[in-house]
Amino acid sequence: MLVISMALAAQPKTASLYERVGRYDTIALIADEYLKGLRADPKFARFAGRGADSLKRGRQLLKDQLCAMAGGPCTYVGRDMKSVHGGLGINAQEWQANLDYMAAALDKAGIKGAEKAEFLKMVDTLKPEIAEK
Ligand code: HEM
Repeated sequence: MLVISMALAAQPKTASLYERVGRYDTIALIADEYLKGLRADPKFARFAGRGADSLKRGRQLLKDQLCAMAGGPCTYVGRDMKSVHGGLGINAQEWQANLDYMAAALDKAGIKGAEKAEFLKMVDTLKPEIAEK
């Protein structure tokens, strides 16, 4: 028994990014703050012409997706990123501005240091699927 508990204690911490940022409530806050930033920016106005219910649905799917990507217990049931964003003409500058809004949302949620960097890196893995070359 002692040997087992010593072995467990020696294991490195493997908490998911989801756990380390503060679970679902923090993910939801990050998504809400991120969308607040994007939607207030006139540069992104051309992406906004959808009804209230579609916007709500998109917001929930974003939360589910970020939660699942960070290793949380959520399942993303939306469409794949390439199909959803294909044809929207999202360029490299818009992609960078989107990352800046994500960084500001992480700041608002109090996520700093390694977790902030890891979260941004995680979002940036989607660039080839969302932004056009
Ligand atoms: C420049 C950045 C982005 C812009 C302008 C943008 C724009 C959009 C637009 C206009 C839609 C609605 C498409 C439609 O229903 O026809 C959408 C849907 C969606 N986006 Fe983005 N997006 C961006 C980045 C991201 C990122 C970084 C993520 C994930 C972390 C994301 C996740 C989603 C999800 C989950 C949906 C809904 C999927 C579905 O309806 O099945 N988007 N986005």
